[in-house]
Amino acid sequence: MRIAAISETREGERRVALTPEAAKKLVDDGHTVTIETGAGTAIGADDDQYRDAGALVADNRSGALGAAELIASINHERLDDLPGLSDRHTVVALLDPLWKPEPMQELAASGATALSLELVPRITRAQSMDVLSSMATVAGYQAVLTAAQRLPRMFPMLMTAAGTVPAARVVILGAGVAGLQAIATAKRLGAIVEAYDVRPAAAEQIESLGAKAIDLQLDTDDSEDAGGYAKAQGDDEQARQQAALTPFIAAADVVITTAAIPGARSPLLVTEAMVEAMRPGSLIVDVAAERGGNCELTVADQVVDHGGVTILGPTQLESSSARSASQMFANNLVTLIRHLTDEELELGVDPDDEITSAMLVTHGGAVVHPRVKSALS
Ligand code: NAI
Repeated sequence: MRIAAISETREGERRVALTPEAAKKLVDDGHTVTIETGAGTAIGADDDQYRDAGALVADNRSGALGAAELIASINHERLDDLPGLSDRHTVVALLDPLWKPEPMQELAASGATALSLELVPRITRAQSMDVLSSMATVAGYQAVLTAAQRLPRMFPMLMTAAGTVPAARVVILGAGVAGLQAIATAKRLGAIVEAYDVRPAAAEQIESLGAKAIDLQLDTDDSEDAGGYAKAQGDDEQARQQAALTPFIAAADVVITTAAIPGARSPLLVTEAMVEAMRPGSLIVDVAAERGGNCELTVADQVVDHGGVTILGPTQLESSSARSASQMFANNLVTLIRHLTDEELELGVDPDDEITSAMLVTHGGAVVHPRVKSALS
């Protein structure tokens, strides 16, 4: 199969879909891999490293796409820079089709097949293809480092000749993949860590990382869907949660929010009044900023100061560890490509396969994914 990895177009994006190591694995498998020139520069992978891995390097986008059958990219919201996209192409990327379904119609109209990496099912067999988990791991880690750098105090308790410096109190809201990594990172830095997730099953995972699970004494037994994701809450439930969380937020030096509902706006966990109850000098890092944020005052990619409380809404945390993020992304992609190819190394998009069907957004000139179709209508 002819596989092309293209340069990313989103501003601030530093990751690349295929690292030289991943390109080599695909070349060794027998595929032809082409990289658009400069695609790996931001992670320190120059064109020669790709050539050494056995890949071809194309001078421009058209050259990379050339005879490609599979086009790999980190995220692809724009289609106008994929010249000649047609029914012979399969695009594999973070396409965000549940949140931004409209571009999927354009993609379908080109005739191309699109597989969305956000939609890899959360089943054991697909774990090694789960890009979303990989990227959430990096985001959770980077959120804590961002907080530690910004906070006007250190995370660990230190007993020094100049007196005792108390540990920072960190509260993490949402203990999925990003939240659990944030807990682990904040613990490693020596902070006192408490965490909350609406799914009762998360409490055990929080405690297993040495943090304290916050028990809001709310009945959330019905908060999880069959896929393991949280369901959206009603207004009353949300208000009860906010009220119960207020004293924990008020006592925190750092609040890291990671709560998400797939395809929906981020749940509102921290209201303006709750921010006003926090001490000046404290900090919120809202990892859910791209979908509206978990904090009412979050503005994506801006620093907001509200009465001395700083609120950050970074949307590109993964790019701050672009090398590691690309390595994980590319390894997931290689596993996925191996899953998609048959013994003759031909690309086979089998709509009856459990993994492929879950990710298949456009095929045969139409949007075929039921949830994307309903988001469009
Ligand atoms: P996510 O990114 O959709 O959401 C992050 C977290 O926010 C989730 O833990 C969710 O419960 C929580 N949340 C949503 N609304 C909330 C609210 N109102 N208050 C507090 N927390 C709220 O989820 P993520 O990180 O992708 O993981 C979801 C689940 O899937 C987890 O149970 C995770 O362990 C599981 N998982 C399973 C995998 C597998 O079996 N292959 C792979 C990755 C994750």
